[in-house]
Amino acid sequence: NVMLVWQRTAFHFQPQENWMNDPNGPMYYKGWYHLFYQYNPESALWGNITWGHAVSRDLVHWFYLPLAMVPDQWYDANGVWTGSATLMPDGRIAMVYTGSTTQSVQVQNLAFPADPDDPLLIRWNKSESNPVIFPPPWVGPTDFRDPTTAWYVPTESAWRLAIGAKDSEHNGIALLYQTKDFITYELLPGFLHAVNGTGMWECVDFYPVSTGSALGLDTSTGPGPRVKYVLKASLDEKKQDYYAIGTYDGEEGTWTPDEPEMDVGIGLRYDYGKFYASKTFYDPVKERRVLWGWTAETDSEWADLLKGWASLQTIPRTVLYDDETKSNLIQWPVDEVESLRSSKQEFSNIKLSTGSVVPLDVTQATQVDIEAEFEIDLSALEQSVEADVGYNCSTSGGAAGRGALGPFGLLVLADQDLKEQTAVYFYLRRGTDGGLSTFFCQDEMRSSLANDIVKRVYGSSVPVLDGESLTVRILVDHSVIESFAQGGRACVTSRVYPTRAVYGGARAFLFNNATDASMTAKSLKIWQMDSAFLHPYSIGPD
Ligand code: FRU
Repeated sequence: NVMLVWQRTAFHFQPQENWMNDPNGPMYYKGWYHLFYQYNPESALWGNITWGHAVSRDLVHWFYLPLAMVPDQWYDANGVWTGSATLMPDGRIAMVYTGSTTQSVQVQNLAFPADPDDPLLIRWNKSESNPVIFPPPWVGPTDFRDPTTAWYVPTESAWRLAIGAKDSEHNGIALLYQTKDFITYELLPGFLHAVNGTGMWECVDFYPVSTGSALGLDTSTGPGPRVKYVLKASLDEKKQDYYAIGTYDGEEGTWTPDEPEMDVGIGLRYDYGKFYASKTFYDPVKERRVLWGWTAETDSEWADLLKGWASLQTIPRTVLYDDETKSNLIQWPVDEVESLRSSKQEFSNIKLSTGSVVPLDVTQATQVDIEAEFEIDLSALEQSVEADVGYNCSTSGGAAGRGALGPFGLLVLADQDLKEQTAVYFYLRRGTDGGLSTFFCQDEMRSSLANDIVKRVYGSSVPVLDGESLTVRILVDHSVIESFAQGGRACVTSRVYPTRAVYGGARAFLFNNATDASMTAKSLKIWQMDSAFLHPYSIGPD
């Protein structure tokens, strides 16, 4: 529909048309990055779930390939649901995925490439042994899905993988299975992990991260002195991806969080905005772990049907353990995205007095990559002593709610008159003990004049170390804003639907709504972003 065409993104992955949800089976194989995804070939709403498939040389430009798997067997007739790829040392691939059967029972199935010599892996065969795993008797038939990538355990000469579930007491669970051939599986006693009251765990992810090194680790690395393990669950009821960092005991088959009060489902999130059902994979080429996440629409189903499409994948992010805070991960857009940067505008030392809004001389800010660094006036910091312990991104009035030391930051996808704007900002909160904590938030409340949109203020606190200035990177792409604070310690993704701040009508501003402190935008860089190439794959002259 021509009316809503500007909402399509230029450098985010999305199918040509129709509905998409979770990323599935991401991997690197014979020179290509593969991305599969939950896809409805028939409509812009969820249903008829198949596996869409696309390949890329660089995680930026993509070729669409034919559907990899469709619901054509009794064991996946109600949907070829989420799954993960395991690459074996001998080059074989096991794709284990959830099928919703004719009776809507969630079972696990095995598929493998029809032609392993085809680097594009176009055709897939489902195993004749399917289904390979049925739900255990005490798990509900619709509470058992989304197997992880498997890791090899040399002492057992076997592979292990985790599957999300919930029990009758509403506890979220990751079950641990062991297999030698991906056909016969043994449910190991106990759980990999469980957290009371967190409900169904979808799309569990489990992987090692290294401490003291900026390299990612292969999923089969195994426990060791400089290895921690991340456990992630997508909470069905909250539609949020929660992770925690901890230790994996391979012998016991259990994972334990470093900080029990920051356990999975009650502690940290990958992203405090619209981000769900994510999955990582190990990229052997660049020795990094890469995270894919699904960002859904926040407009109406009616608008999605009108547009003819729904959902994006966020920009793939490199994931690392934060060796400085030792309490969180660091996420950062993969380097390759910088290849889209074209003309750059730079600004420095822009003074932001209290209550100011400063327009930036950027012609069109609809498809941009922004890096900004802020400094707060130190004397104001010392003078302002009033505590505001109750501050919370979601409930404290957003960018319009004024405090002594915030909010301040940027307005993006804003029109000239600021009738439309999305605020990306920091807020410093003073505790009763006088100590400061920093919040990073994104306010969608004025993002669009359209009225059928869910708008929220998202965010969280973010660790800031002594002597650090406040930094943010913002990727703006028509209807999505992905922001990374303090080098990626906290991230927020928003879907927004401006009606005026589109193409040449989209501007960017700096603002400082603090009552007591002036701020300085020490440095600000804005790159125009080229569009990525997303096309069907065709061989030979067309
Ligand atoms: C998560 C999810 C998965 C399921 C898939 C179905 O968004 O509900 O648990 O496998 O989507 O499309």
